[in-house]
Amino acid sequence: MKLLVTGGAGFIGSNFVLYMLKQHPEYQIINVDALTYAGNLENLKLVENNKNHTFVKADITDAKAMEELIGQEVDIVVNFAAESHVDRSILEPDIFVKTNVLGTQVLLDAARKHNIKKFVQISTDEVYGTLGETGLFSETTPLAPNSPYSASKAGGDLLVRAYHETFGLPINITRCSNNYGPFQFPEKLIPLMISKTLADEQLPVYGDGLNIRDWLYVEDHCSAIDLVIHEGRNGEVYNIGGNNERTNLQIVKTILVQLGKPESLITHVKDRPGHDRRYGIDPTKTMTELGWKPKHSFETGIEKTIRWYLDNKDWWTRIQTGAYLDYFVKQYGERLGDQE
Ligand code: NAD
Ligand code: DAU
Repeated sequence: MKLLVTGGAGFIGSNFVLYMLKQHPEYQIINVDALTYAGNLENLKLVENNKNHTFVKADITDAKAMEELIGQEVDIVVNFAAESHVDRSILEPDIFVKTNVLGTQVLLDAARKHNIKKFVQISTDEVYGTLGETGLFSETTPLAPNSPYSASKAGGDLLVRAYHETFGLPINITRCSNNYGPFQFPEKLIPLMISKTLADEQLPVYGDGLNIRDWLYVEDHCSAIDLVIHEGRNGEVYNIGGNNERTNLQIVKTILVQLGKPESLITHVKDRPGHDRRYGIDPTKTMTELGWKPKHSFETGIEKTIRWYLDNKDWWTRIQTGAYLDYFVKQYGERLGDQE
């Protein structure tokens, strides 16, 4: 089996590559990534000498390059490559449309041309928009994205669906809740708060901090994708989540307790525009049809994650340089001067 994994130097993509080479050592993986600010070859150190893993630096919007790669007798495409941070999509929406919509379409065209066995689109629960106090997102919840990021992901999903309906391309779409774990770029809530806590810096909590996310340890997301690749019914969408809803304040306080730091570090700042209030996934279909079950509770997952960031300080301090610092001034400079 030959897989083309896109975005495999990012957070979830690199965890997935490591997971798959362990679970299926005989599989061949071509890992294509443009190495944007979020891509990091250090994540792949463990497999750099693995003959079944080939890394290629290329952009998924490059039609010629994608066609050449998929033309190498690829069986399955798993598309992780994306601009993934909501706050950045508010600052610069255009790159989100380019990568998440156009890039997906380029891959779909190449996949169609070479008659691949399956195209798996790694999407997100954010395409469903926001929930009130009750209810969960199911696979039939209407799409109602609220940020440029989620709108661009929904655009990608709709193209995947259309290539299935119009051209008969075999596809699955997965929609997972918030991931956390090793190799997550320290701009996202959990690694950001861990790194700031360790530096005794202010912890910027947006608005009242009562927005809810449904957290899943990244390895459990990878095991669900593995099942979708092998068992997913053609054309189907699968929601992935572990029923771990927490408010942002609960997350931040958990990190503070585990690191033995005071709650006085919490600083409420100006809210994110269009900030979705609550996400919650109903994973029944994935569990019953594919037999998927997460291995980690939130408590075991967060403990492992904090331990990983403590043990791998070099990994994240190396990232916190030039462009990263510029982004932080843009994103938080005014906010931290404009506390609520
Ligand atoms: P990430 O930002 O850590 O990684 C994205 C990777 O894609 C990076 O390695 C980057 O270099 C690469 N990339 C970006 N633009 C590219 C392009 N034009 N061509 C080739 N490579 C490109 O993101 P992540 O958190 O690992 O998310 C991976 C996927 O999973 C995304 O599609 C995201 O929408 C989805 N997802 C993420 C979460 C989450 O909580 N992080 C949850 C559900 C779904
Ligand atoms: O739900 C899946 C999605 O989860 C993925 O599709 C996205 O790629 C991923 O980035 C994530 O999106 P969120 O916006 O939910 O994640 P983020 O870590 O940016 O924020 C989580 C919550 O924490 C959200 O309510 C905003 C809040 N937050 C975030 C940051 C970065 C803060 O309060 N302060 C912060 O500094």
